[in-house]
Amino acid sequence: MKIAIGNDHAAVEMKQEIMAYLQEKGYEVENLGTDSPESCDYPVYGEKVGRAVAGGRADLGICICGTGIGISLAANKVKGIRAAVCSEPYSAKLSRMHNDTNVLCFGARVVGIELAKMIVDEWLSAEFLGGRHQRRVDLIMAIEEKGE
Ligand code: RB5
Repeated sequence: MKIAIGNDHAAVEMKQEIMAYLQEKGYEVENLGTDSPESCDYPVYGEKVGRAVAGGRADLGICICGTGIGISLAANKVKGIRAAVCSEPYSAKLSRMHNDTNVLCFGARVVGIELAKMIVDEWLSAEFLGGRHQRRVDLIMAIEEKGE
């Protein structure tokens, strides 16, 4: 399982800790930056993670910024991406089970590192349930094909 990970300047340290945590657990991780504390633009990194997942280079993605919100908005603009901001483990788990999220987002200024690890664990161990949830996910993805 390969996970693409990206972040802005607000989340460099948390990204590094989450990367190490994932690698310890045996996941392959592709770091898409930033690794600099210099102020940068989170959409760049949300898009990079989205494209890695949508293009099949990674199985799943993790995006971290100050709140998780801006980078999730950017990732969600990539066709095929279902990114959700989860600040606690229950939503993270249900976002996989019901919404088949392929990108997990959270905020380095919102959650501490131990909570972030729990969120990641719940998200990675949950499985999409399919059935009626598949129909709803299909309806979400069909919105991408509609015109104005
Ligand atoms: C950067 O200051 C901050 O705006 C960003 O990390 C994020 O919280 C945006 O949604």
